[in-house]
Order: sequence, then structure tokens, then C-alpha cells
Amino acid sequence: MLGKKVPDVTFRTRVRDESIGGPNPFRWEDKTTADYFSGKKVVLFSLPGAFTPTCSTFQLPDFEKLYPEFKAEGIDEIYCISVNDAFVMNAWGKSQGIENIKLIPDGSGEFTRKMGMLVAKDNLGFGMRSWRYGAIVNDGVVEQWFEEDGFSDNCDSDPYGKSSPQNILENLRALKKAA
Ligand code: BEZ
Repeated sequence: MLGKKVPDVTFRTRVRDESIGGPNPFRWEDKTTADYFSGKKVVLFSLPGAFTPTCSTFQLPDFEKLYPEFKAEGIDEIYCISVNDAFVMNAWGKSQGIENIKLIPDGSGEFTRKMGMLVAKDNLGFGMRSWRYGAIVNDGVVEQWFEEDGFSDNCDSDPYGKSSPQNILENLRALKKAA
């Protein structure tokens, strides 16, 4: 995975637009891989589903809390991606009070599939979802890779450790120290 360019796809996001008025002032806004990744050093983390327990209790809120510490290590943005549509991702971010992390809806799973990270989660009634991983992506190129062990379809556990913000931050700091 190291040195690989993240795939070029178009993400269908929903953004607030007060000019629309009414009770639901949102419109579609297409964003490309280049919009998110060009010219930036980012943390990308991917998880099996919005609102799922580990993701909601630990991974997303801990990235949110540790955002200033990632910024201090030269990270421009932190992106959370999941095979969920824009409505679900927006509702999840709102319910978690997320201000720092940008949530990317990969509803059709195209980005995740092209990353080679799409797995079946039919055992949970989820269909195709992302295996959990994290990455440092610099100008669209994967510089560091943090994939949970046991990549497989219909996995009966949900490993979480390598892609935690604490582990990724520790690695960033160790690399800086060694440089
Ligand atoms: C979790 O984040 O805890 C979780 C993820 C996928 C399926 C079930 C639980």
C-alpha cells in the first residue's frame, strides 16, 4: 500500500445552503479525490459503519479530541471515510458534535473497493463495507499504513488498535524523532 496513489473518485456529499430555505436546506455537492487530497498531508481513517459502537465510542471522538495534536505534527486535515451515504455520515457527525474531522461518504463503496479494502459484512446484515484502516496520505500518496489484522469477509470480530488515533499519532511522533 505504501507509495500507492489513492483512487480518483467522485464523492456525493450533502452541504447546507441557507439560500434554499425551508426545513431541509441542503444540496448535493460533488467532491473529488483531488478536492480532498491534493497538496495536503492528511490522516485518512476508514471504518465499518457510522453509528457502530467502537467507531462512535472511541475512534471518531478520539480523533476529534486529538486533532490539535495531529495539527502540531504537520497534518492538515483528518478524514473519516465509510461505506455510508451522505445523509448517514452527516447525521453521525452531527450526533457526535464533530467540528474538526471531515466525514467522507463513500456510499457506493467505489473508493474503498479501489483501495482494496472492501469486505463483506453480510454476517451483520451490512452488505459490503470497509475493513478498518488508517493512513497518512501526502498529496494523494500513501506514506504510512495502519491496517487492522485479519482482513476478511464476514469477520466475526472487529479488530481495533493499529488504526486508533493514539497509535497513528505515536508513529508520527516516532518518525519525527528519528528524522
Ligand atoms: C463497532 O464499531 O463496534 C462495530 C463495527 C462493525 C460491526 C459491529 C460493531
